[in-house]
Amino acid sequence: MIFITGDTHGDFTRFNTKNFPEQREMTKDDFVIICGDFGGIWDPKEESKREKHDLDGLEERPFTLLFVDGNHDNFDRLNEYPEKEWKGGRVHEIRPHILHLMRGQVFEIDRKTIFTFGGAASHDITGGILEMSDPNFRKKRKQLEDDWIPYRVNHVSWWEQEMPSEAEMETGRKNLKDHNNAVDFIITHCCASGTQATFGRGILKPDPATEYLEYIRNTVSFRKWFFGHYHDNINVSEKEILIYEQKIRVS
Ligand SMILES: [Fe+2]
Repeated sequence: MIFITGDTHGDFTRFNTKNFPEQREMTKDDFVIICGDFGGIWDPKEESKREKHDLDGLEERPFTLLFVDGNHDNFDRLNEYPEKEWKGGRVHEIRPHILHLMRGQVFEIDRKTIFTFGGAASHDITGGILEMSDPNFRKKRKQLEDDWIPYRVNHVSWWEQEMPSEAEMETGRKNLKDHNNAVDFIITHCCASGTQATFGRGILKPDPATEYLEYIRNTVSFRKWFFGHYHDNINVSEKEILIYEQKIRVS
């Protein structure tokens, strides 16, 4: 089995037995994939007690948990986990059965080919990105908080790696080409510019990540495309599905 769900942001109650009774029939050869903003690796420097407890709890679940990265994941720490080859693509191993599916990879999972590409531009940064080393950091932060303006702090709650690099984009193009530009599923955090325009009410602007995914959308044949990021559940088209707290079984 493969289930797909949207952003979890460090809240894993949707995977408890009450909310996800299907797991009673699942084994470690069954999979749940999160479309970014996993949030299980967020705290600074190392696994905090709370994070360790959550990750160990997820590892004990009867299924294997997979995720692409979003824009609310601690990239400094995520990239420190051991990297390995798994089912045809590259992963970071968080736990033996909790794996980060890296960008631009094509996996073969449960006899389905899946292209993965995490990352997205943050929208909740109208107050800007603050630097801890800025002598005026506290003053600026207080002002933004008093004015209720969203902001983030570099290497604490925002990482430049939220946006894909040219190398990651090229890896994706190459791996897709090796699969004749055809996969069963595409799993990303944000979506293609054209897709975003259909539900973005003119507020969401294209950026290098959505433009890359627009290229993918026009180049690659796929059965279904699942993405998170926009915190809603919408069947944007017959093939493109914005998913949040729902879980959809695809295999
Ligand atoms: Fe999110």
